[in-house]
Amino acid sequence: MHISSAEPARGREAFLVAEQVTAGYGPTPTIRDVTVQVGRGEIVCVLGPNGAGKSTLMKAITGKLPHMSGRVLLDAVDVSGYRNDQLAGRGLGYVPQVNDVFDTLSVLENLEVGGYLLPRAELAKNVERVTEIFPAIADMRDRTASKLSGGERKMVAIARALMLSPSVLLLDEPTANLAVELAGVVLREHVRRLADAGCAVLLVEQRALEALRVSDYGYILVGGSVEVEAPAEQLLERQDIGEIFLGRAYPQAMGRR
Ligand SMILES: Nc1ncnc2c1ncn2[C@@H]1O[C@H](COP(=O)(O)OP(=O)(O)O)[C@@H](O)[C@H]1O
Ligand SMILES: [Mg+2]
Repeated sequence: MHISSAEPARGREAFLVAEQVTAGYGPTPTIRDVTVQVGRGEIVCVLGPNGAGKSTLMKAITGKLPHMSGRVLLDAVDVSGYRNDQLAGRGLGYVPQVNDVFDTLSVLENLEVGGYLLPRAELAKNVERVTEIFPAIADMRDRTASKLSGGERKMVAIARALMLSPSVLLLDEPTANLAVELAGVVLREHVRRLADAGCAVLLVEQRALEALRVSDYGYILVGGSVEVEAPAEQLLERQDIGEIFLGRAYPQAMGRR
C-alpha cells in the first residue's frame, strides 16, 4: 500500500517515517506529534537533553510501546501496531539503549539469537558476514556476554542487530559508556559504513557534535516534541542550539513555550 502523505517534506525518499507519533507510559503522553524521517543510506540523528523522550520515540517506532496517535511507515507501508518480530521480518533492526545483549549467553549465541528468523545455513553465513564487519568478534565468540567490556558489548549488540541484514537500523546511544576515541570509531566507521551500504540509520546520541558530524540530518527533541530540525551541517553552524540540546537551557527552553 502506497501512502502519498508519506512523501518526505525534505525531498529525499524516506524509507522510515514516524508521522505525528504521540506515545507514553500512562495517560499523559511522553512524546507528542513527533515526525521523523530517514532515507536509505542516510544517517539521521535524534538529539536532546536527558528525559526528552528519545528512547521513548525509538520504543514507539519499534512496537515496544503502543501509540496514542500517529503512525509508522516502513517502505511506504503502515506498520503501526506491528510487533517487534514482524518489524524485524520487514527489515527493521533495533539496538536498544539498555538490555542490548543477553548476559548469560556467549557472543556467538547472542549473534545466533539475533538471526532467529534465518534458516540454519544462512545463520552461519551471517555470523561470518558480521565478523567481517567487526573482526574483533572472531576472538570473542565463546566468551560470555557478561564478561565483555562496554565497547565489546556494544559491538556485539550492533553485530547482533546486523544478523538479519536490516535495511533500517535504530541505534539508541550506541556510544554510551564508551571512551571518547572508541565512540568516534563507532560513529565514524561502523555507523557510517552501514549507511554507505544503503542502510537507513536512525541514531540517538548524547554526543551531539560527534553525531552531527556523521549525520545527514538532525532532529532536536525537547520535552517530548521536535524543537528544531535541519540538515546536520546547518545544525552544526547554529550558535544558539547547543544550550538547548545539551540541556543547559532546558528550563528556559521549556518556559518559552
Ligand atoms: N518505562 C517507563 N515508565 C514510565 N516512564 C518512563 C519510562 N521510561 C521512560 N520514562 C519517562 O519518560 C520520559 C522520557 O524518557 P526517555 O524517552 O528515556 O528519554 P531520553 O531517552 O531522551 O533520555 C522521562 O521522563 C522518563 O522518566
Ligand atoms: Mg534514552
